[in-house]
Amino acid sequence: MKTLRVNLGENSYDILIGSNTLSTIGDFVESKGGKVFILSDTNVAPIFANTVMDNLLEKGYDCKLMVLPAGEPTKSITSITPIYSSMIEFKLTRRDLIITLGGGVVGDLGGFVASTYLRGVDFVQVPTSLLAQVDSSVGGKVAVDLPEGKNLVGSFYQPKLVFIDVAALEDLPEKYFIDGMAEVIKYGCIKDEKLFELLESIKSRSEFMQKAEEIIYTCCDIKRRVVEVDEKDNGERMLLNFGHTYGHAIEKHYNFVGYSHGQAVAIGMAFISKISEKLGQCEKGTTQRIVKILTQYGLPCEDKVQPQDVLSAILNDKKNLGKKLHVVLLKKIGESFTYATDAKYFLN
Ligand SMILES: NC(=O)c1ccc[n+]([C@@H]2O[C@H](COP(=O)([O-])OP(=O)(O)OC[C@H]3O[C@@H](n4cnc5c(N)ncnc54)[C@H](O)[C@@H]3O)[C@@H](O)[C@H]2O)c1
Ligand SMILES: [Zn+2]
Repeated sequence: MKTLRVNLGENSYDILIGSNTLSTIGDFVESKGGKVFILSDTNVAPIFANTVMDNLLEKGYDCKLMVLPAGEPTKSITSITPIYSSMIEFKLTRRDLIITLGGGVVGDLGGFVASTYLRGVDFVQVPTSLLAQVDSSVGGKVAVDLPEGKNLVGSFYQPKLVFIDVAALEDLPEKYFIDGMAEVIKYGCIKDEKLFELLESIKSRSEFMQKAEEIIYTCCDIKRRVVEVDEKDNGERMLLNFGHTYGHAIEKHYNFVGYSHGQAVAIGMAFISKISEKLGQCEKGTTQRIVKILTQYGLPCEDKVQPQDVLSAILNDKKNLGKKLHVVLLKKIGESFTYATDAKYFLN
């Protein structure tokens, strides 16, 4: 098992990355009160919850499992009350522990609950989707959605530990694997040409799995470094948004049903690098490499819709007129920077 330390003063924690490690989790977590509340979803719990619970029970912990319906609608403000109630019924105290076992939905929701229940209880992230292992479980952003939009209520609340068992990815449906790959590729683009080259050389998901520990470690290490210098998202963390401004606009244009987040980000990464390359801000040939790698991993790299239609919401909003927009550009693969412009940049 490999360890990464996220250095955030008194909020510091480790990320443990290994394979087939879930059955040993009890050796790495601590609940001073002796109780562990595990939050999971209907896809993940049937595969992994027993392994986690059996080991915790063996270690003498009193456990309770709560299983929520899988999917983004669960990450809602209305899901919270029944979770608090279940915790109270279990007599969970501030000396106890919450474990979030699942993808980004369970991690974000459970983390938010942990940050607010009794003014904050320790929690451990056990991410099981690729996106959660390389992105959402690290960095302490926890949130729920409101009917008005995603992640509108939340906090910065760091976990006590991120426990990653890459073998869990064997069970992840292809669609979500591909989705997570968009973020993995993003890390290569913004910070690590070697990672990008490694990803270029991989020909199948099983080959990826052979190198999963190394790849996920590299991604977490990049996120760790970015978060360490910018815990509260005021600067450096913006680089993680490469491909996301246009990607979000695409997701919104199709009412969040046309493309998954990863697919939209893939289109966004290819689109912005094409513009910046045309304007001479990015090394020639970069877009071609990005398009090639996205295609290799089954991700889209363009959409038939016109940029002015995608961006109409942003462009027509008077509030945005003349307003600065910070976009993330690549100088070349592995080197990124933020560039202050406005929404018209995307019409170049
Ligand atoms: N906090 C952050 O910094 C951050 C960053 C990026 C994304 N997010 C959030 O993450 C969420 C998306 O995360 P996600 O893509 O993991 O979604 P998700 O939690 O819905 O998981 C995707 C699907 O895979 C299933 N699943 C997960 N692990 C599995 C496994 N090992 N085997 C079988 N099925 C498995 C889930 O049940 C679900 O159906 C969004 O709500 C997004 O806002 C947060
Ligand atoms: Zn993303």
